[in-house]
Amino acid sequence: MLKRTYRCGDVRIDDVDKTIVVSGWVNSYRDHGNLVFIDLRDRYGLVQVVFNPDEDAQMHKIARQLRSEWVISVSGVVAPRGEGLENPRLATGKIEIIAKELEVLSKAKTPAFEVDSAENVGEETRLANRYIDLRRPVMQEKLIVRHRIAKLVRDYLDGKDFLEIETPMLGKSTPEGARDYLVPSRLYQGSFYALPQSPQLFKQILMVSGLDRYFQIVRCFRDEDPRADRQAEFTQIDCEMSFVDSSDIIEIMENMIAKIWKEITGYELKLPIRQMPYKEALDDYGIDRPDLRFDMKLKNVSDIAAASGFKVFATTVEKGGVVKGLCATGAASYSRSEIEKGLTGFVADYGAKGLAWMKVEKNAESGSLELKSNIVKFFTEEQQQELIERFEAQDGDLLLFVADKESVANKSLAPLRVKLGKDLGLYNEEDLAFVWVIDFPMFEYNEEAGRFDSLHHPFTAPVPEDAHKLDSDPGNIRSQAYDLVVNGSEVGGGSIRIHDTQMQAKVFDILKISREQAKEQFGFFLRALEYGTPPHGGIAFGLDRLTMLLTGTENIRDVIAFPKTQRGQCLLTDAPSEVDPKQLQELNIRTQKHLHQIDKE
Ligand code: AMO
Ligand code: AMP
Repeated sequence: MLKRTYRCGDVRIDDVDKTIVVSGWVNSYRDHGNLVFIDLRDRYGLVQVVFNPDEDAQMHKIARQLRSEWVISVSGVVAPRGEGLENPRLATGKIEIIAKELEVLSKAKTPAFEVDSAENVGEETRLANRYIDLRRPVMQEKLIVRHRIAKLVRDYLDGKDFLEIETPMLGKSTPEGARDYLVPSRLYQGSFYALPQSPQLFKQILMVSGLDRYFQIVRCFRDEDPRADRQAEFTQIDCEMSFVDSSDIIEIMENMIAKIWKEITGYELKLPIRQMPYKEALDDYGIDRPDLRFDMKLKNVSDIAAASGFKVFATTVEKGGVVKGLCATGAASYSRSEIEKGLTGFVADYGAKGLAWMKVEKNAESGSLELKSNIVKFFTEEQQQELIERFEAQDGDLLLFVADKESVANKSLAPLRVKLGKDLGLYNEEDLAFVWVIDFPMFEYNEEAGRFDSLHHPFTAPVPEDAHKLDSDPGNIRSQAYDLVVNGSEVGGGSIRIHDTQMQAKVFDILKISREQAKEQFGFFLRALEYGTPPHGGIAFGLDRLTMLLTGTENIRDVIAFPKTQRGQCLLTDAPSEVDPKQLQELNIRTQKHLHQIDKE
């Protein structure tokens, strides 16, 4: 076998006259009769190889049979390309290899698509043929960045005395809020392991055990509804520290994030990262993960709306709802149908019952700003001027309003703001906006269930000044939780934990988790807390989401070698799939299909 001495992408003009061996995949071939040109590809790049019958007629004959994606080794001499034949787009573009010897290592069937033209191929085809898809340099680049992030994280945290410790994949369900993936036990029939939604309780127990600083780059499993930035199995950079407060954790972690951005992209992140209370995020952006690449804040205009003659607005406020809106910069040029179909339809998907609008125009004669729309007649001159002032509106802007319960107004206006920010070009693609969201409410009232839920998880500690409200006013307690948000994406979240069993018991009471339930679900953990627990806290970052931001993709599947579709399928292996009935028998499991068969028999 011809053994590789050079990587395709590494050959340079300085190597001229050297005899080298390169190995790789045939990226493209051009047969000019007496000369055959091959672009040979490996992970490191492309290099041009020339087969000339004068060198070796037999070799040239074989070269003419080469096809895309065959794997070959070539021994040859590096030569400068002829005058005007250089390719400035290739790192190897100044040279070519004059082949002396060719060895076909493996032939390839015609692939489902050409590596070079995969851009235009449907994602399902790419996923089903992932081995071809991953030959694309753009795909390899993303996996390389992902590897480099993981390495930077390991080196950084190792330098800060964090220990990488593995925790079980087969475990007991932890309450992170999503549905569990269950694994049936063969030895204990009828019992199940749960795949971890996160290593939350294990990492806290490691603190109880005195390991002081823990981290793990770890797979987590959540059976959630799909979203563009979610996968059923995803990877966390999971950390926990003892004898710290939230400012210590935030400082160590933002330095890690700054280092990652600096090393991967050269971007200098200014520290400390800005912190924003949850309430401000909700008031101004309608969401706890605000995209701060552009301003365009939401404004509450309930006071003006209540006094107006517009029934929809006035009655909404009367019933305890709000009227919130935003001033879309320069969007007065939107046509009525663009607003009423495009934008109203958009917010309707988020539950809004309508979208009122007003265009801001400068009166040519008086030079003052005026509002134009089907509903301005319901607003006095003064009220119109108040609206203009509240939004600091300019000529050519478009005011948009939702009147509803505050939660619906926020849930619909927040994505509308993000859509308009993008559509109106209010930021540049390369802009980055980092923010820590802090002071989350500890609990959120769940009307359906008639009880409180944890906003983060039940092990999050309250802000000390608010702890006295645990008995009297749980709805108004802030927690010591923090989320890191980048360009509107939640890339990490964590908290200081409760390290006191009594407080933990009180929190379970508020969540209406009975002592029995608590004991059954995480009795092991509550017991551990009773044996000397240091104050501790931690955080977990989504490695997939960080990699998305650092490689500039909005598709989480692009940063995972073998991802699942939005419907949770692996198109390469066809998982999930039915299993051999024998396997089910061993587990003493019968599926509905089985039962039907038994019934028929
Ligand atoms: P949390 O649930 O906020 O916290 O998860 C931490 C981070 O993981 C990422 N993430 C996801 N990424 C892709 N697909 C998903 N389905 C998905 N779900 C979450 C997000 C998120 O910020 N145990 C706590 C952490 C702690 O308190 O220390 C936890 O799991 O980027
Ligand atoms: P209508 O009175 O139904 O003709 O609505 C007049 C305008 O108010 C339309 O532009 C509607 O989209 C808008 N509208 C109706 N309901 C709401 C609401 N809940 N919030 C905001 N605008 C609304």
